[in-house]
Amino acid sequence: MKFNLLVIITVVIGSISALPNNQKIRQTPLGVPYQGKAIQINKKILATKKLTFQSHPAGNASWLGMSFDYQYIEPVFEILNSTKVPLLSRGESHVTVISPPEFSVLSTSGITIDQIDQIALNEKIQHSKVKIVCLGKEDVDGKIVYQLIVIAPNLVKIRQKVFQLFAKQGGNTSLFDPNSFWPHITVGFTSGDLFIQDGVYKGTNVCYRPILLVHKIK
Ligand SMILES: *[C@@H]1O[C@H](CO)[C@@H](O)[C@H](O)[C@H]1NC(C)=O
Ligand SMILES: *[C@@H]1O[C@H](CO)[C@@H](O)[C@H](O)[C@H]1NC(C)=O
Ligand SMILES: *[C@@H]1O[C@H](CO)[C@@H](O)[C@H](O)[C@H]1NC(C)=O
Repeated sequence: MKFNLLVIITVVIGSISALPNNQKIRQTPLGVPYQGKAIQINKKILATKKLTFQSHPAGNASWLGMSFDYQYIEPVFEILNSTKVPLLSRGESHVTVISPPEFSVLSTSGITIDQIDQIALNEKIQHSKVKIVCLGKEDVDGKIVYQLIVIAPNLVKIRQKVFQLFAKQGGNTSLFDPNSFWPHITVGFTSGDLFIQDGVYKGTNVCYRPILLVHKIK
């Protein structure tokens, strides 16, 4: 028994010290090789609570987002942009939490963007803990899109609270799944973004290069 415990502790410590915190990470979380070296990002990207929450009302195409400071995304854009594959940027950065098509579904139950914003504020959306997993890349139908793939449990919680309101207001629960969620921060694209409606999943399946959070970009 004691021996087993020792083995378990040794294995746990071993795997912690082997965690991907250096440039030697070679495989994505899904166990396929990364296609480029690590990209450095200033750790301050995660200081999102300094940013005020922004509402995005737009009729039936309203949406909910968590804001990020674009000044820390811009250097990533510069690394990826080239004369060979010129990219466009929106010049701002966010994680979409409820997308316009999702809002359109939710609004059939009478849910308003104000109600959704209120849930986000109650759950302190800008304080959400976020882990950056990798830089993702899709290349579909002649469009190339790059984004940071992230994990953010509080954003899932916000979606679940929105779902509870949707159900309470008599919404059709087949039509919105709070857990069908692939949070990411779009960095740039060649001509336009790609969405789930294009059959594109922005999860760890698209991990392309590792991300290294640093105090200062070298
Ligand atoms: C919003 O409503 C307009 C007009 O009713 C419709 O044409 C459009 O497709 C809707 N947009 C969404 C995202 O559902
Ligand atoms: C991307 O790179 C191209 C080619 O170097 C350049 O002309 C363009 O201005 C860059 N785009 C942005 C948004 O900086
Ligand atoms: C839920 O939505 C689907 C698709 O629009 C529809 O076929 C179904 O009848 C709806 N169910 C209820 C209970 O309204």
